[in-house]
Amino acid sequence: MKRPIRHLAAVAALLLASASAAPAQKPVPPYLDDNQPEEVRIEDALRRMTTEEKIALIHAQSKFSTPGCPRLGIPELWFSDGPHGVRMEFTWDDWQHAGWTNDSCTAYPALTCLAATFNPALAFEYGNAVGEEARFRRKDVMLGPGVNIYRTPLSGRNFEYMGEDPCLASRMVVPYVRGMQQNGVAACVKHFALNNQEHNRDHVNVEVSDRALREIYFPAFQAAVQEGGVWAVMGSYNKFRGQYCTHNDYLVNRVLKGEWGFDGVMITDWGSAHDTDEAARNGLDIEMGSWTNGLTWGRSAAYDSYYLAQPFLEKIRSGELPESLLDEKVRRVLRLCLRTNMNRQRPFGRKLTPEHTALARQVAEEGIVLLKNEGGFFPIEPGRYAKIAVIGENAVKRLTEGGGSSELKPQEEVSPLRGLQEKYGKEHILFTLGYASGRPDYSRELPSGLDADSLVREAVRVAAEADVVLFFGGLNKNYRQDCEGEDRLSMALPFGQDELLDKIIDANPRTGVVIISGNAVDMPWIDRVDGLIQSWYLGSQAGTATAAVISGEANPSGKMPFTIPMRLEDNSAHHFGPESYPGVDGTQQYKDDILVGYRWHDTQRIPPRFAFGHGLSYTTFKYGKARTDRADYLPGDTITLAFTLRNTGSRPGKETVQVYASQQHPSVLRPAKELKAFRKMNLQPGEEQMVEVQIPVNSLAFYDEASGGWKLEADTYRLHVAASSADVRSTVAIKVKQTQVTPVGK
Ligand code: BGC
Repeated sequence: MKRPIRHLAAVAALLLASASAAPAQKPVPPYLDDNQPEEVRIEDALRRMTTEEKIALIHAQSKFSTPGCPRLGIPELWFSDGPHGVRMEFTWDDWQHAGWTNDSCTAYPALTCLAATFNPALAFEYGNAVGEEARFRRKDVMLGPGVNIYRTPLSGRNFEYMGEDPCLASRMVVPYVRGMQQNGVAACVKHFALNNQEHNRDHVNVEVSDRALREIYFPAFQAAVQEGGVWAVMGSYNKFRGQYCTHNDYLVNRVLKGEWGFDGVMITDWGSAHDTDEAARNGLDIEMGSWTNGLTWGRSAAYDSYYLAQPFLEKIRSGELPESLLDEKVRRVLRLCLRTNMNRQRPFGRKLTPEHTALARQVAEEGIVLLKNEGGFFPIEPGRYAKIAVIGENAVKRLTEGGGSSELKPQEEVSPLRGLQEKYGKEHILFTLGYASGRPDYSRELPSGLDADSLVREAVRVAAEADVVLFFGGLNKNYRQDCEGEDRLSMALPFGQDELLDKIIDANPRTGVVIISGNAVDMPWIDRVDGLIQSWYLGSQAGTATAAVISGEANPSGKMPFTIPMRLEDNSAHHFGPESYPGVDGTQQYKDDILVGYRWHDTQRIPPRFAFGHGLSYTTFKYGKARTDRADYLPGDTITLAFTLRNTGSRPGKETVQVYASQQHPSVLRPAKELKAFRKMNLQPGEEQMVEVQIPVNSLAFYDEASGGWKLEADTYRLHVAASSADVRSTVAIKVKQTQVTPVGK
């Protein structure tokens, strides 16, 4: 008993001694003092920095970092792609994978899949999870999410974006940003603006009306800024009205920072700056990824030659450009630091947790879309068939690789084949490749070394032997097959899949198809298959989620975030020929204007193969008649729309109810209908719920070019409650009693 007392006394003496010997607390300058207001800290840091130090702060020191200000202890900023997980590490000064062994991550499903969930709560969890892993990996800025609108099925990066509808993309991006940033990691919404194709993306000049900008291409960015409070925005490579978007006076100065009040940093895409004067004057805050002359030539460690480095410094020194332009950029970078790497309260993050795995699986399960299901083809309950043939390279290919900057190095990637083997038992699965592609490469197609004919012969043999066939095809993130930097050449499936499928169906008519892609594909075999699933690049838990949906363990509830047209020419961008896509002599006119996606199909009465918002379930839902709380409204009011939804089948299921609006006698052309709200409901068999949806009356306005504002016309409007853009279940008419024009920026 004596020893502990003696021990305690010794500790107390030690503490006393060390307290009296402790050095005086280091004085904390205001910029490091958490108790000072943000703007005081920013001004204090700025005041202490030399012009050279400020210049250093606004451009890269390596492929993915900026140097901070070492003398003042302002930390480096570390960036990473984005947007589906935290990318592997790179070497300092080139595009080589660094080969670390601790840089793996959870791969979450691609953003098309997230959009297909129509579930904003999941978007919040998704943003949070990527933010947690980013934080654990010491990243300060995540380069995503992407919210460019899906305009053409050929665009190489649609899989990284959130579909064709601005309301859907807006409602999904806001929670993603909030979820991520609560970790003290900045989201960087990209690519502002109009990166709607990859072909000639570095230089193509986009001409588009103000109205289409406001109604179609801006809303998701604006929502990310004004509702999500995003801390960073990335400029796109292309030009808009003759000026590169990254330092475009209208886009950055007037709209983003002016009208929308964005107080974060405007970052280049990697190498998207082209001019010191424009970069200095037109709101660009951080330059990354340039070589020495924009994108045209390069040398190693060229950072001092960046447009916002030595050339900018020289222009300040000579008086050609005022230092105040630099100060404004530095303020924004410092604000970003205070929000991220100088925020002592931010959590430490987590990586590869069971919750991350479960989330990756849940997003995948909720995003998979059941497009067609005749004769109860799906689900295939375990025990229903003795021999299931799984045919197609996409059943085994690692689809987290390739595609460009969104590539990932997941710790685990469960392939569809493995998922199905685990679900049904290996002995019940016959697998063969059927077709083969080469290794992914960003800039060229590498052919497979395998003999295509013998793959087909074997596939036909296996199909004939099985009780049922599941074909896994689609695109695969190889060059021109959903990959950054180039577009697809056509909507057709690559690698001989159509011919192969025909032969498989000849050999076994009981064939179901799973298309894995981020884009619409042609389906010449559609009438010959009873079961069709649109799946996505699903990430770490691809196979588990796929097997859960196919077997019926999970009830599919994904809805299409874009339209699948019958033919490419039916798509709005392609209807108008090469001037509209891909552009002529470096310029492209968006002749489809506001009629993008289902807006085009509905207004022109061009039936799609599968409509925006379409997605089946293993249960059925009955929609009741919709009513509104009133018949007449004034600008500024909110409409409450209510109806019952009943699960009339025998399984629990989720249904995304959609509300579209149309105006009866508009003074300008308006789309036949436009999505205004959606809600994902979860119902038990036999359960009925009252669904209530709020629609701000002002959201019924159109952008009026004549007055430069949002015009809400006194008129009758119809609100359509729908299961897809082509499946309206109930319509209710309301009246807006007064015309109102709200100037933009108000
Ligand atoms: C892509 C960006 C990406 C950047 C950094 C660019 O090629 O367009 O989306 O964030 O590279 O990898």
